[in-house]
Formats: sequence, C-alpha cells, structure tokens
Amino acid sequence: MLRLAVLASGRGSNLQAILRSISQGSLKARVVMALSNVPHAPALELAQAAGIPIWAEDHRTFKSRKEFDAAMLTAMAGKQVEAVALAGYMRLLSPEFLQAFKGRVLNIHPSLLPAFPGTDGAGDTLAYGAKFAGCTVHFVEEALDSGPVIIQAALAVQANEPLDGLMPRIHAMEHRIYPQALQWLASGRLRLQGRLVHLSAPELGEETPEPANPPAGCLISPPLEQGF
Ligand code: GRF
Repeated sequence: MLRLAVLASGRGSNLQAILRSISQGSLKARVVMALSNVPHAPALELAQAAGIPIWAEDHRTFKSRKEFDAAMLTAMAGKQVEAVALAGYMRLLSPEFLQAFKGRVLNIHPSLLPAFPGTDGAGDTLAYGAKFAGCTVHFVEEALDSGPVIIQAALAVQANEPLDGLMPRIHAMEHRIYPQALQWLASGRLRLQGRLVHLSAPELGEETPEPANPPAGCLISPPLEQGF
C-alpha cells in the first residue's frame, strides 16, 4: 500500500481519478494528504469529501519557494509519505523538497514531452500545428517538465480541433495513465537507469496483469494493464 501525498492547485480531476482507482482496487495506494498552494482549489474540496487530511497556504505569503516547500514538508511529517504525485500543481519544487523524496515525485503533463513543456502544453501543441497531442507521466526533476518519462498517451489532433475539444480527450487519457504509473511505482516495477525508466515484469509469484484494450484512437506506451 503506497502512502501517497498529492499536490494540486486546481480542479483535481487527476486526484479524483487516483482516488477512483484506489477504491476500485487497481491502485494499491492510499492518499494520506492533499496539499495546495491555492487555498480554495476545488481539488481540496474533493480531498476533504474523501476524508483526506488537507494542507493549503497561499505561496505568495511565503518569502521563498524554499520556505513554502519546507512548510509542506513539515505538514507531511509523521504521515510516512512514500511518494508524491503532482496533479495539476502549478509550481516548481525546490531542490530541498525533491531531495526529501528523491526519485519518488511524479507529475502528469498534457503534452508529449519533451515537446511543449510549460503551463499550456495542450494549447501550445495546437498553436504549433503538431498533428499528435497527448500526455506524459514522468519523474520530477528540478527543471520544468524535464524528468524521465514513465508512460505517454498519444492522440491524433483532429482537423481544426479547438482546445476545448482536445482537452477533454487528453484528460480522459491522463485519468488512465496516471493511476497506472502510480501502480507501477507502488509495486516496485519502475527502475531508473540514467534518464531511462525501465518497467519490469511483476515479481515471481505475482500475477502477470493482462493488457487492457487501448482506448480508440489512442496509442499508449508502455501499454496499459487490466484495471486502468
Ligand atoms: C492536467 O491537465 C495536468 O496534465 C496538468 O494540470 C492539469 C490538472 O488537471 N499538469 P486536474 O486539476 O487534475 O483536473
């Protein structure tokens, strides 16, 4: 059972997807705390409704990123947090925070990294005229949207597709690949070699999951497993 802290600044649909996978039993984790730099973020309401302890402070009231992140670490102390999932957390993390959870902080980003990092990955994909959009779950490093890639989902952009058409399609994929990546982490199947992420087979004696059918019009690598 992976003890997870979720950091979110917005709507919280990825937090919701994580909670859904946990309650369905496919993600063997527990969200032990939700933290935010936006005190009225809808994600926090979701967490509260699920009985998850929350912590939220406006980062602008802190002197520095280092101090804000130190306050988050203090808030998490005693919760035995094993991994941190960024779910629409719109801030960089300090080196000190990342050091505290080395190799155990994941992020979801709405583009096919390394293309279109930044705050508007999907919008930038469309504005550039790229023909494939998608989303990426990756380990977090200090530089924005730069860490080793765990899983990606690619979607063909439709002719003249507006952002409000593409975005829900990306979100639907996010809600499948993020819980999957977290389950791989929870089951110890992710190994980092430099910036390459290797996915190992389940341990001997553990069931080998069947592959899930990929959603129509979408390519996912590595493939999703049953339950995601
Ligand atoms: C997602 O699109 C994610 O890729 C990005 O922020 C958005 C968060 O959405 N990092 P939500 O708050 O989980 O609905």
